[in-house]
Amino acid sequence: MTILRKALIPVAGLGTRFLPATKAQPKEMLPLVDTPVIQHVVEEAIRAGIKHLVLVTGRGKQAIENHFDVAYELEDVLRRRGKVEDLEQVQGITHLAQFAYVRQGEPLGLGHAVLCARYAIGEEPFALLLGDDVFDPRESALSGLLAAHAATGMAVVGVQEVPEEHVSRYGIVNAGPAGTAYWNVTSIVEKPEPARAPSRWAVVGRYILTPDIFELLVGLEPGAGGEYQLTDALAILARQGRLIAAPIPAKRYDTGNKLDYLKANVEFALQREDLRADFTAYLKELASSL
Ligand code: G1P
Repeated sequence: MTILRKALIPVAGLGTRFLPATKAQPKEMLPLVDTPVIQHVVEEAIRAGIKHLVLVTGRGKQAIENHFDVAYELEDVLRRRGKVEDLEQVQGITHLAQFAYVRQGEPLGLGHAVLCARYAIGEEPFALLLGDDVFDPRESALSGLLAAHAATGMAVVGVQEVPEEHVSRYGIVNAGPAGTAYWNVTSIVEKPEPARAPSRWAVVGRYILTPDIFELLVGLEPGAGGEYQLTDALAILARQGRLIAAPIPAKRYDTGNKLDYLKANVEFALQREDLRADFTAYLKELASSL
């Protein structure tokens, strides 16, 4: 399987779906149990063999840069108190990968965020991971996309089938033949009304992009919501027969959605050795009292 060198993670969004928690802190720092959502996404990229991470940040997002940086005072205190495990955990985050940050001055859409990273990415294929979408870490969400990219050399969108009432939240592609590992995208539409949707196959925050995407983004007019939409550039690739969809079998949580965020916390806690037994007992007791 191809190993990509670089991944791009846009983190400049305002997080208005999670106010008031996101008034003074980035939504990407909200935890699943004790680990910020952004760290789960970074670790997913690293598990796929990616070593260089480019984060597109904006005002008020310094906590993300600090999270992946050395925390000198904290490390000093932990060292002096002999808290070896805590120290190793805090230091480990800094050494996960190489991080580069570019700023998106204005929130002009996902297409614009990707374009901001043009010179940090350069002329090579790269993964794009959106921070709201978190996948079950026991499965590799990116592996099917990487295999499809290795086989075709083309840009790939990771897709999952969603209920009809949810298609207007996503970029939607045409369906492929049932059971295939990947298929050619002939049409992709951003947040369509269900009646206009080509299928119920939604783009779920994982992409492999090729560097020709940047020139396509430069030529875009603002699209849905007045924003520069990545989907509009992908639609050009689709029309040229140069876009692939690959289903992602891993379970997904939309952590930008309150109910999904709560579910993710519960399910991630149940995967933890240190919490599983006590938390399961608590949930059973709670369920029987409802
Ligand atoms: C973005 C993309 C959309 C995609 C979605 C996945 O939308 O524009 O095509 O389906 O992410 O989460 P957003 O959620 O930023 O509105």
